[in-house]
Amino acid sequence: MAGRIPQSFINDLLERVDIREVVEARVKLKRSGKNYVGLCPFHDEKTGSFSVSPEKQFYYCFSCKASGTVLTFLMEFEGLDFVSAVESLASIAGVEVPREALKDPGKRKSEQSLYQVMERAASYYQQMLKSHAEAVSAVNYLKNRGLSGLSAKDFGMGFAPEGWNGLGNALKDVKQADLLAAGLVVKSEKGRVYDRFRNRIMFPIKDLRGRVIAFGGRVLGDEQPKYMNSPETPIFHKGRELYGLYEARRAVRRLNSLILVEGYMDVIALAQHGVPNTVATLGTATSADHLDKLYRYASEVVCCFDGDQAGRAAAWKTLELALPVLKEGRQLKFMFLPEGDDPDSLAHREGKDAFHTRVDEAMPCIEYLFRRLTEQLDLSLIDDRARLGELALPHIRLVPEGLLRQLMMSRLAELTQLSLQDLYVSSGLETQGRKTSSSSAIPAGETVSKQPGKGLKRISKHLLTITLKYPGFIVKLPDSSQQFLLEDLPQDSLFGKVVRLLVADPDMDTPTLLAALSGEAHHGLLVDLAQKPSVLDEKSLLVEFLEGVEKLMLSSGDAHRKLLIQEIKKAGTSEGLAAYWALKQNLKHTGNSKNED
Ligand code: UTP
Ligand code: MN
Repeated sequence: MAGRIPQSFINDLLERVDIREVVEARVKLKRSGKNYVGLCPFHDEKTGSFSVSPEKQFYYCFSCKASGTVLTFLMEFEGLDFVSAVESLASIAGVEVPREALKDPGKRKSEQSLYQVMERAASYYQQMLKSHAEAVSAVNYLKNRGLSGLSAKDFGMGFAPEGWNGLGNALKDVKQADLLAAGLVVKSEKGRVYDRFRNRIMFPIKDLRGRVIAFGGRVLGDEQPKYMNSPETPIFHKGRELYGLYEARRAVRRLNSLILVEGYMDVIALAQHGVPNTVATLGTATSADHLDKLYRYASEVVCCFDGDQAGRAAAWKTLELALPVLKEGRQLKFMFLPEGDDPDSLAHREGKDAFHTRVDEAMPCIEYLFRRLTEQLDLSLIDDRARLGELALPHIRLVPEGLLRQLMMSRLAELTQLSLQDLYVSSGLETQGRKTSSSSAIPAGETVSKQPGKGLKRISKHLLTITLKYPGFIVKLPDSSQQFLLEDLPQDSLFGKVVRLLVADPDMDTPTLLAALSGEAHHGLLVDLAQKPSVLDEKSLLVEFLEGVEKLMLSSGDAHRKLLIQEIKKAGTSEGLAAYWALKQNLKHTGNSKNED
């Protein structure tokens, strides 16, 4: 398989090749002012509705509405897929298509074989739990802890018998180097190779695709260390993984909330008792990476802590590292268990409903923050109220701009009895649309034009997020709005790129779209945005989307244009569009056409 084509190359190519030349080689064109017109190749017609603009490097058919760049043209006209169209365009330009280096093929292959080895090992351990004579004690141990056979099966649990070479013998056909690389066997200083996991109950740890990437092995009694985990391998990075996430996603199609607990046994016990949306870190402290990962699948994360001093310390640490990742739409709650209990014991003793009640009563992170900060303070004293401000602001500053931060500011204002305005001034934070004394000096109509880029950027980003989720929305736009986006979004804006891709290929779904954007510098961010759960359903998002585009259009230029856009919106006619194009030309001359976003 060839590597990806860098996006930068595609952009260069689009600049280098003239759309008129490419189209003219295939369609007879006549000059008409700045544009070239001809019979549309995409539908049957006698009049020339097909227009090519060399200036915009864009074609448009006023009749069938076919439109796009030179790449789209090649794809449509020659029936090429995206990559072939790029290749064809490159040959027109006389350049080679560069490919980004693939992962070293040797490395890919060895990872492949590691997954296979892990899978084989998982089957072996499962088989041993079912049939090995020694497994009786393991089965009894699990039964005594209330674990059902079904749960053990669901989580692929197994048993590693006593003895040094059980696994090694069962996987004789596997190269020893692979077993070593997978961390399943260990080599002693004397060169003797033996099974890493012996006489342990085995918990396979899976990645999001359900592939076994590691094991945790628990002793049957109280010996130490209680758990032994696989070492870091090319396919396992302990600090990043979450136990149970694959199983949770498998059990619940749309996760709203994920509960983060400490242990493997907690995850399994809760799942067994009807709380399948539970995950655990692998014995490491929760990190911002963990949270980021969880928020990809659920908008709410409920962290579970022991009710003791250690639990409170862990909660505070989690709060501190979580504040910077609490972007819009992400909710974080803390739940404290009765001392001496863990989710495992509660699941068995109280069952699902009682546990759900506890989850429902979990404390929102703002509340937890202020509760902790005010613990030692007496808010009837002015000094202590000032102190609270000093303590809280550094935390609030960590939170990304958005509703949560505003709520924290409001709460702080309430508790300190300071005005919100004064608090914002001393915090150095933006007031987010709130009127402060300085901005109220600006007449209402002008606030937008003072900082034209900002609001538009936010709208574009919001539109981008929605579009990544529902690529089909773009073609639901009236043609005039589509055209507006194609024309007015800056060439290098991500939303602009997404719009161009989707207009070129309206059938693209999210994965295809993400693949087409794979050369982008912020590709990871795009994937995150696409997967970010939304509180709104598809219909409400569509409304937001249409309104957002409208806002963008209305804020994009002078009054004439606004009026015109509204007209076009009403009429949706090709004449309207032609007029709009003409107006744009004019605006270009007066240097007023580019919107700053
Ligand atoms: P716990 O001691 O709470 O484990 O440690 P648990 O899963 O609830 O197991 P039981 O109930 O005692 O059988 C929490 C997590 O910390 C890691 C494991 O990931 C465990 O699930 N851990 C714990 C280790 O990696 N090594 C250890 O020795 C102990
Ligand atoms: Mn436990």
